[in-house]
Amino acid sequence: MIKIMDKFILLETKNNCLLLEIKKYYYDNEEFNKIDKFFVTQRYFGLKKELDFTPIEPFIHPAGSNQDYNNDFLISSSFGNGNNAEPSILMVNSDGSFTNRFFFKKVNILKESKLPFGPHPRDILETLEIIEEDEAAKLELHIYYSLFKDSDVIAVHKELINKGEMPCHIKRLLSLECPIDSKDLSINTYDGQWTQERKRNSLRLNNGVFINQSLLGTSSHKHNPYLEIKDNKNGDYYAFNIIYSGNYKEIVEINPTEHASVMVGLNDFAFDYLLNPNQSFITPVAIMVKEDSPEEITLQMHNFINKHIVNPMFAYKDRPILFNSWEGSGMKINEQSLLEMAELCKEVGIELFVIDDGWFKNRNNDHAALGDWVVDKNKFPNGLSPFVNKIREMGLSFGIWVEPEMISINSDIYRSHPEYALEIPGRAPLERRHQMVIDMSNPDVISYLDDSLSNLFNELKPAYVKWDCNRMISEFYSHIGIRSGELIYRFMMGTYELLERLTKKFPDILFESCASGGGRYDLGMLYYMPQTWGSDNSNANNRCYIACGTLTGYPQSTLGAHISRDYSVDQKRSAFDDRFNINSIGGFGYEFDIRTSPEKELETMKKQIAYFKKHRHLIQFGHYYVIDNCFDDERYYSFNMVSDDQKEAILSAIQTSQIAPKKNWKFKGLNPEYIYEIEMREQDNVSLLSFDSKSGKELMENGLDLGLLNEEKDIQDYPNGIQSRMIYIKKVNNQL
Ligand code: GLA
Repeated sequence: MIKIMDKFILLETKNNCLLLEIKKYYYDNEEFNKIDKFFVTQRYFGLKKELDFTPIEPFIHPAGSNQDYNNDFLISSSFGNGNNAEPSILMVNSDGSFTNRFFFKKVNILKESKLPFGPHPRDILETLEIIEEDEAAKLELHIYYSLFKDSDVIAVHKELINKGEMPCHIKRLLSLECPIDSKDLSINTYDGQWTQERKRNSLRLNNGVFINQSLLGTSSHKHNPYLEIKDNKNGDYYAFNIIYSGNYKEIVEINPTEHASVMVGLNDFAFDYLLNPNQSFITPVAIMVKEDSPEEITLQMHNFINKHIVNPMFAYKDRPILFNSWEGSGMKINEQSLLEMAELCKEVGIELFVIDDGWFKNRNNDHAALGDWVVDKNKFPNGLSPFVNKIREMGLSFGIWVEPEMISINSDIYRSHPEYALEIPGRAPLERRHQMVIDMSNPDVISYLDDSLSNLFNELKPAYVKWDCNRMISEFYSHIGIRSGELIYRFMMGTYELLERLTKKFPDILFESCASGGGRYDLGMLYYMPQTWGSDNSNANNRCYIACGTLTGYPQSTLGAHISRDYSVDQKRSAFDDRFNINSIGGFGYEFDIRTSPEKELETMKKQIAYFKKHRHLIQFGHYYVIDNCFDDERYYSFNMVSDDQKEAILSAIQTSQIAPKKNWKFKGLNPEYIYEIEMREQDNVSLLSFDSKSGKELMENGLDLGLLNEEKDIQDYPNGIQSRMIYIKKVNNQL
């Protein structure tokens, strides 16, 4: 709900409110002060409470003083506003100056807001529009705050309009600015690299500027855009993210006035956007939430992403159990070997059979063929259709891998259209994984990809498509004359254009995004593709960190997690059933040559799959609570999912260390009054324990001893460390 009062604007979410105040702006210039100028500040953000609407005395610059103010709770600061902090706006105006002073002009409540092209929040309840103006620069700025039913998340974005007769340049236009009344902040970011995605990185900041960003063209493995902040002064928790998949920037600055400011938006690195007269630029949408516990932050983020980011066609729909050919076969695939695997997949209960890389013409290694999205007749002599029909006849659905944003120099498309590659004339191209990036800012490229992928999807009617993106962008040069300062942004818009077209034409396809594993785990991709392949590292021990880091800010249904042969650098191998306990999270599947599985393993798979199917909705969409966070204590990772009505929950308890103190595993999020029946999942080589029914209170306060081994003498049983259990609980039916 949004209320506009005289000098205040009140925005109310489910539990919180945000109070903005329109304040008079004084300046060290008497002439100037005769005219009323106002700017908008953030007065309060937090739990709903009795609010004080007495205007706060504006900060007046003492005459003759050279003192600056420091973004004092501004919701949108620009350079040259007398401020000496990081601004969210930086322009080169049409007169060549960098200075901007935007003053409040008008406020509206919109039922339909002006959203950027591409991904944006769905199902907005209402939007506040604040219009500010810089008369001298002839610029109009619109700041949008959108609210949602059943969520505390607030989405913020901006639009800048050139009202003048001359062009100007946007150097920086960040979407969101959130002041925090504290100078003592703890920041969590989720950083990593290929095979080690989203490791929590914690930092206490009480001075200076902190930046979390990507410069790689994708949101990247290096730094995920999900940002958490704890305000140590007031004991509050914040989280931020952006609905965008390219270069982003998040700035946290502690100001000398002892308050902080958080800014989120498009990265200004190598960014220079030409804004012609009467044109407008709409930023991606950023989001923020504030709560009094980290658990509530995670629940809010999960709920928001499931309800307002993920395509409602898939949002709460059970996801299939899949088999993927990559880890087992690489590019060495052919019709015969795949059919043999598919037979076994069917036998154990797998639902979706996915051919990964290697199916298209001349794709025998990663030096060739990207961009030629037609079948390799050496591997599939009759084409793919007859093969896919056989898969369907077995009762499996079919999925396929593509990597549309890339092009190999050794490909037919490059030979006929070398200008499609992002490549700088006169400079040897930097290939990564022996491949180049295709120019997604070029409309002809989009049409070419739209046609070739549509032909493929029309012919094969896949139920699932894995959309990969295996390198960063380094060559900022488009052969169609796109300005280099706009290229990386227009590249992203081109990718979104292609995704818009394909998801509209093929609404039933479940897309899973991937970027060398989890290098593009962001809300922009999740808008089009409900799942993301979490990492190329599927070793169970390493996956604890990947899952724990990812699920803090993204719901479990979005996380692709498969059981593989458990390769790892540190040789921490685990039993097949332990791999299930850590990977049966969201987009679950198997990824090895199933023909090498002994009978016993196939039997275990059958049991695992039956178990997953039975509890699938709870696992994929239950409320997720982390119980033991492996970033706090690396010996344990445990979590449970609780159904909406709290009548069921499922817990995964993982101990990753050879010896760790004995502990009870405590549930979270249950109804303390309910009595629950407790059932341990059957696992190979683990004695099945039985438990008496217990109340939610007991399960949360005392927990369960799950019989894990903790003594040094037990090490020979678990030479590589991991032990795990899965427990399902259900409210006793006849409970009074
Ligand atoms: C990337 C993905 C893998 C696989 C390969 C295929 O590395 O992360 O899962 O699809 O590409 O080349």
